[in-house]
Amino acid sequence: MKEITKDLYQFSMFIPPLDFTIHQYLLAKEPAILFAAGTARQARAILPELKEILGSRPLKYVFVSHMESDEAGGVFVLQQAYPNLIVLASPLTARELPGYGYTGKILPQKGGAVLKDGGLQLQFIDYPSEVHLQNGLLCYEKNSGILYSADLFLRFGNGVGKTMEADWQEEVKAIPAERVPETQARAVLQHDLLEIQPKFVAVGHGFCLDLR
Ligand SMILES: [Fe+2]
Ligand SMILES: [Fe+2]
Repeated sequence: MKEITKDLYQFSMFIPPLDFTIHQYLLAKEPAILFAAGTARQARAILPELKEILGSRPLKYVFVSHMESDEAGGVFVLQQAYPNLIVLASPLTARELPGYGYTGKILPQKGGAVLKDGGLQLQFIDYPSEVHLQNGLLCYEKNSGILYSADLFLRFGNGVGKTMEADWQEEVKAIPAERVPETQARAVLQHDLLEIQPKFVAVGHGFCLDLR
């Protein structure tokens, strides 16, 4: 675990045979939000660290970008530790989670929606994401300028605790067809992303982007 930028704690797993890193992030504001539940195993592993950072404060939100094990797998584990947890996810993910036995609260979000709660101002952006390249979301916390980008801006390599300087316009323009193959959907996503000006991109895989 590392505080990779102010109030943002990164939890990581590096998989050497794949040269691949999986990250989750706790934004320890009031209220607190976790970006990506992680797999059930990862969620179990980070619980003691979450408790250490948050103390007696609860984890209020977990953002689930899309229905894939690294994003959603650990919601059940987190719900056991934080029974009042609220999952923020797209309507498609919201429909699928109960099928996996999740019984906690879900607040479905659509692209363009903004949720304000205490120190958080969360803006949701539509994201055609794996596995089926539809109905995923990205989450931008406007007060801190932190964007959680899930599988976008994915890079291979050991990205544990590492940040690289980057240019936002160039990163957005370089989103490859392998991430979002449908031309029109990619153009819409790129347009939506250029409407915001994040200071820091917390990536699901690889190296965080410092845009300051
Ligand atoms: Fe994914
Ligand atoms: Fe992922």
